Amino acid sequence: MRKKIVAGNWKMNLDYNEGLSLFSEIINMIKDEVTGKQEAIVCSPFIHLHSLAQLAKGYNKISLGAQNAHQAESGAYTGEISAKMIRSVGVAYVILGHSERRQYFGETNELLAKKTDTALKNELKPIFCIGETLQEREANKHFDVIKSQMAEGVFHLDAAQFGKLVIAYEPVWAIGTGVTASSAQAQEIHAFIRKEIAAKYSQQVADDTTILYGGSCNPTNAPELFAQPDIDGGLIGGASLKSRDFVDILKVFN
Ligand code: PGA
Repeated sequence: MRKKIVAGNWKMNLDYNEGLSLFSEIINMIKDEVTGKQEAIVCSPFIHLHSLAQLAKGYNKISLGAQNAHQAESGAYTGEISAKMIRSVGVAYVILGHSERRQYFGETNELLAKKTDTALKNELKPIFCIGETLQEREANKHFDVIKSQMAEGVFHLDAAQFGKLVIAYEPVWAIGTGVTASSAQAQEIHAFIRKEIAAKYSQQVADDTTILYGGSCNPTNAPELFAQPDIDGGLIGGASLKSRDFVDILKVFN
């Protein structure tokens, strides 16, 4: 059975000490309150990762993720961070293709296919983000957009490699806006994504793939979203910066 996951995306927030204390709070709450098999992932800025990995040692319910990684193995790319470096500090996941990276840093499906390969080669599991903009939805192009993001970004992988991915559906119009996709809208796209995976690989691969919803997810709307048959958890931005909210979202799977 596929994993239930709640991943926090801290984005470019929290200085080093603030990050450490938020993470310590989260670990303590998870220890006391999380009773199911769900997994928490915290995707912090690079600066925090090494120390958070030390704090997380011994807790199997919490893992770490980076928010980006470069497509090259190493070399003259001033200011960049490689997948190997990230993996070397005990980080298991990396967010790839977040809409903010696509929008502000010009990341294309083609580039993301390369980043995915390099991450997997270095044993980092991508949390691969896809989602349409408001204009695309209003033009009724959301299914086409999702389809090409998958086809061009990750469908070059073989089934074994694809099996290491987590997919996150994040409608761009719902990110940081306070507007959530309705559970029916989200379920419709999640079912479509799973159908595409089944057509490309197999029903088994599709059934085993964790597909997260992201976009203004909070403790109030998470129960209804996560009750949908094809929604396996969330990628949480704003609400992941508050330990109480993040752990309450995680507890939906208790
Ligand atoms: P949000 O962000 O929860 O603040 O909308 C989600 C995301 O960007 O991953």
